[in-house]
Amino acid sequence: MVSSQPKYELIQEVGRGSYGVVYEALVKRTGARMAVKKIRCHSPENVELALREFWALSSIQSQHPNVIHLEECVLQRDDLAQRMSHGSSSPLYLELVETSLKGEITFDPCCAYYLWFVMDFCDGGDMNAYLLSRKPSRKTNTSFMLQLGSALAFLHRNQIIHRDLKPDNILISQGRTFAGTPEPTLKVADFGLSKVCSTSGLNPEEPASVNKCFLSTACGTDFYMAPEVWEGHYTAKADIFALGIIIWAMVERITFVDVETQKELLGSYVQQGEEIVPLGEALLENPKMELLIPARMKSMNAGMKQLIREMLSFNPQERPDAFELELRLVRIACRELDWDT
Ligand SMILES: Nc1ncnc2c1ncn2[C@@H]1O[C@H](COP(=O)(O)OP(=O)(O)O)[C@@H](O)[C@H]1O
Ligand SMILES: [Mg+2]
Repeated sequence: MVSSQPKYELIQEVGRGSYGVVYEALVKRTGARMAVKKIRCHSPENVELALREFWALSSIQSQHPNVIHLEECVLQRDDLAQRMSHGSSSPLYLELVETSLKGEITFDPCCAYYLWFVMDFCDGGDMNAYLLSRKPSRKTNTSFMLQLGSALAFLHRNQIIHRDLKPDNILISQGRTFAGTPEPTLKVADFGLSKVCSTSGLNPEEPASVNKCFLSTACGTDFYMAPEVWEGHYTAKADIFALGIIIWAMVERITFVDVETQKELLGSYVQQGEEIVPLGEALLENPKMELLIPARMKSMNAGMKQLIREMLSFNPQERPDAFELELRLVRIACRELDWDT
């Protein structure tokens, strides 16, 4: 399908990352509100990131309430727009794949290529902005924890390792219950660093298991990176570590200020004198380091304490996998609810 008629009207810019710009947009025909992320494909890095996001989101066959839904991905060259499809044999798509594989631009550099990702619009900002602008709430924390556990189990079941889980990449959609009380829904977003594992990596005949897929590209954001990611040999358990950092920080409101942006961010870390050090990096130096959990609260539910400790184990094999994690979070949440009634 090739068209020169824009389907979407861009309303305003809502986010800007290192690779793309995100707009709030309207579908012209229906007036529906969407988010559109525009990535300029002018460097091999941008092309690789855009393709990773496309491959991960388009490989998901069913929708999950806590994972951003890709409505469509449009490839634009100059005035022409073409809907992208997985495994497409369109020359434009193949040029992008070749660029990403070779690590150099293989198409006419005079042409302007863009990839447009059309997704659900999240009106509540990201997890940092949402939580840090409100008073701590045990109810919200419990609900977020469950939603995160469910999203990660879904992604890992679909063989997707996210590799950049952090509160900036977890967005909020502000819904309401029938009674009118706010009911925020989390959406895991930004799949630019993600990896879809197609086989176990050991034996191509063996069914794919995300926990057996070994990866070597050290990537992510330092404060959320597992120790083995720093060393460049890791599996899906790296996502469990990142989620451990996020959940611990959320429950205890542990924040730090990002040096580059001066933004306050949720994330647990280790204090070494005046300096704050990412937990993964500190564990790499001292694998036997004991974590002080809780760090700020007087007490913490014993199940929660044990779970955070295991999620942040130096040894990835001592961390629960996403399926066990989801179950344990449900068990902890049930106990929390008992306590409330
Ligand atoms: N679906 C969306 N709805 C609303 N805002 C979004 C959406 N997707 C992204 N954003 C905003 O844009 C920012 C950057 O998007 P992201 O996908 O994380 O791209 P990047 O790879 O540039 O970090 C997000 O932190 C968020 O503020
Ligand atoms: Mg991002």
